[in-house]
Amino acid sequence: MASQLPQHIAIIMDGNGRWAKSKGLPRLEGHRVGVEIAEEMITAVHELQIPFLTLYAFSEENWNRPTEEVDTLMGLLEIFLKTRQEKMINKGIRFRTIGDISKLPASVQSTIAETVSITKDGQQMTLILALSYGSRDEIVGAVNKIVQRTSDVGHRGEITEQEFAKCLDTADFPDPDLLIRTSGEYRLSNYLLWQLAYTELYFTKTMWPDFSAQELSKALEEYSKRERRFGKISEQL
Ligand code: IPE
Ligand code: IPE
Ligand code: MG
Repeated sequence: MASQLPQHIAIIMDGNGRWAKSKGLPRLEGHRVGVEIAEEMITAVHELQIPFLTLYAFSEENWNRPTEEVDTLMGLLEIFLKTRQEKMINKGIRFRTIGDISKLPASVQSTIAETVSITKDGQQMTLILALSYGSRDEIVGAVNKIVQRTSDVGHRGEITEQEFAKCLDTADFPDPDLLIRTSGEYRLSNYLLWQLAYTELYFTKTMWPDFSAQELSKALEEYSKRERRFGKISEQL
C-alpha cells in the first residue's frame, strides 16, 4: 500500500453511460452499477482511514440531461441514502453535501437533511456528495455572501483567502490532496475550481462502473510518488 496517503480524495465518477452503451445496456444500468462502485470506494477509503472523500454525483449542468435520466439519478440517490444511513452511523461516517440542493426534489432534500443530521457525530470519515454542484456558482455565491456582509456592517474592507474559503460550501473541509477522474476525460467539468488549486490530479481511462479497490490503490501509489512542492524547490522540502 502507498506509504503517503492523501487526507482528502475528490472523485469525478464519470463514464456510467458509455460503460452501459458498450454493453448494449440502458444508461440507467450504468448509473445503478456506478452507485455500487461508489459504495465500494466509500468502504475502501474508510478502511484506509482517509478522513475526507468528496464524490461528484450530480453537477449543476447535469440538470440539462433528459428528464428521465435526471429522475433516475434522483431516485438512485434517495434510495442510496435511505438504505445506507444505518451503515454510515455504525461506521462513524459523517455525511455532508455541497452544491445547491434547493433544486433537488423535496423528498430527496428531506432525506439529505435527515442523513446529515443523524450522522453528524461521525468521527471516522466525512463523506461529501457534490449534488447540483457547480464551482462557479459556488464562487459567485461566496462573493455575494461577502458583499451582503460588508454592506450590512457598512464598511468595505479587504478579505483574505481564508475568509473567502470560509464562504464556500466546503468551508468545513480541507482542500483535496488527490483528484481522480475516470473515463478518459481530461477536464474538471466545473468541479472544485478554487479547492483544487494545489491538488494532485490523476486521470484513468477506466469507466466508473469498472473502477475498483485495485485501481484506487494504483492512484494512491502514484500519489505517494508525487513531490508536492507548492512553489518551492526540492531541497527546501
Ligand atoms: C457519470 O457518468 C455520472 C453522472 C454524471 C451523473 P455519465 O452519466 O456522465 O456517463 P458518460 O460520461 O455519459 O459515459
Ligand atoms: C461530471 O461528469 C459530473 C459528474 C461526474 C457528476 P459529466 O459527464 O457531466 O461531465 P462532462 O459533461 O463530460 O464534462
Ligand atoms: Mg460523463
